[in-house]
Amino acid sequence: MTRLAVLTSGGDAPGMNAAIWAVTAAARQRGWDVLGVREGYIGLVAGDAVPVDEPEALRFARYGGTWLGTGRLPDFADRVPDVVDALRRIGADTVVVIGGGGSLAGAALLVRAGVMVAGIPATIDNDVAGSEYALGHDTALNTGVMMADRIRDTAEALPRLFALETLGGDTGFIAQSLALMCGADVLLVPERPVDLDQAAEQARAGVAARRYALIVASEGVPDLDRRLAELAGRLGTRLRFSRLGHAQRGGTPTARDRVMARAFAAAAVDALAEGQSGWTALREGRVTVLPLPPPAAVRPLPDPEPISV
Ligand code: F6P
Repeated sequence: MTRLAVLTSGGDAPGMNAAIWAVTAAARQRGWDVLGVREGYIGLVAGDAVPVDEPEALRFARYGGTWLGTGRLPDFADRVPDVVDALRRIGADTVVVIGGGGSLAGAALLVRAGVMVAGIPATIDNDVAGSEYALGHDTALNTGVMMADRIRDTAEALPRLFALETLGGDTGFIAQSLALMCGADVLLVPERPVDLDQAAEQARAGVAARRYALIVASEGVPDLDRRLAELAGRLGTRLRFSRLGHAQRGGTPTARDRVMARAFAAAAVDALAEGQSGWTALREGRVTVLPLPPPAAVRPLPDPEPISV
């Protein structure tokens, strides 16, 4: 009988719990046993896994984070033989890895060692090359929109220069989509050099139109604090800065993240049932299974449309 081990790896993302549930439901439907691995690859190396049943997984599906826990294991490449031993010990013959680009690259090492693995892209940054979507991005964007709306409330009441910093690591997918959706005056992302003259002009136009301007910036922009201070200096205005930080990574997964979790999970389990390893990607709006790993190249930021949701 097939025994599937499911794990979440890297930075947690809303929708991971929904994916654990959907993987469990699809596997159980086929009569497979499911084990939940604790703390990502750290637990996989140690064989730290617990049986998961569908009702239990469903209970957590509506929450952000991941109830299995997650982890980052930089020397995973050296630990693959330990994983093969651990899988033998716990009697698991297939693995589902839910995580970002680094985690899916780790999954490819397992495939090379002869393990059947399906990967599901999940990272709020939505930066997995080769897929238009990764779980968690939509929820993180919705959190950003909610906060930008609140900043506008106060900005309209007491106009000044406002900056909102998003998560995103060294990519600007969250910031770009958020800026487009909330009509920010200025967008700063790590992929493009900061042009302070242009930013000052855009901010000035915002202030001229409504007495305040909103800047959306991704955390990976080099020297962001200094550049924002310089911008405020040029406009001769006080700047109020808000950082979304890790609050942006939590929260109830949106319907889109839950729908995508189910779609990715169904395709992942189908592939494993057909004896195929791979990872599930969204391509031109359709879920497809591609060979592991995802391309190593950095996912390019679209310029300036479409919005990456
Ligand atoms: O998972 C992606 C991400 O949330 C990035 O947006 C962020 O820069 C990073 O992880 C934070 O990582 P950590 O939780 O390890 O500080």
